[in-house]
Amino acid sequence: MKVKVIYCSHTGNTAQLAQAIADGLPAAAVPRELAAGFTDEENEIDEDELIFAGFWVDKGGCPEEMTELLRGIHHRKVALFATAGFGQDAAYFARIEQKVRALLPVDNRYMGAFFCQGKMQISVRQRYEEIQKRNPEDLKIKQSIENFDLASTHPDDQDLDHAKKFAAEVYLAALNK
Ligand SMILES: Cc1cc2nc3c(=O)[nH]c(=O)nc-3n(C[C@H](O)[C@H](O)[C@H](O)COP(=O)(O)O)c2cc1C
Repeated sequence: MKVKVIYCSHTGNTAQLAQAIADGLPAAAVPRELAAGFTDEENEIDEDELIFAGFWVDKGGCPEEMTELLRGIHHRKVALFATAGFGQDAAYFARIEQKVRALLPVDNRYMGAFFCQGKMQISVRQRYEEIQKRNPEDLKIKQSIENFDLASTHPDDQDLDHAKKFAAEVYLAALNK
């Protein structure tokens, strides 16, 4: 079975996950970064039976280039993986999964998703701190700073290990479907 791991990553978190996904596969797969303005031909998705498509969460969904890619995939088995700044809450990941999964044409077979948190840039924390200075009692900002700090160590070794296992399980399931 031919497998492709294709992803978009702005600051490297999802790239790390993509490598873990590839490492978890029994078949050789080199992760490929998705370039904006891609063509199906350039990405050669037609040859692959199983596609792992990875993205960083952008405004509650996936980046535009991933939207384009997913909408153009047909008659394949497709699994998603992603990193998000937020997501101590599984329901948050589930909502994004549903939204992004809905981009796939129905002739594909959906194989599931793997999500974990991914660190954000320090400028985000600095922005929160500015807001907190003006509104020291703001509970939402306090939580945002706490979340920033929680995210700052992800993806960690455990996330990468879980991603590897996810890849191996999806591969096996795809063989049997
Ligand atoms: C412009 C922008 C928008 C973002 N929007 C969200 C969001 O809506 N929800 C979220 O959980 N994280 C959001 N994030 C955080 C990133 O998804 C997160 O840090 C991710 O791990 C980055 O992955 P990368 O290193 O592969 O680019 C956003 C980050 C940026 C830069």
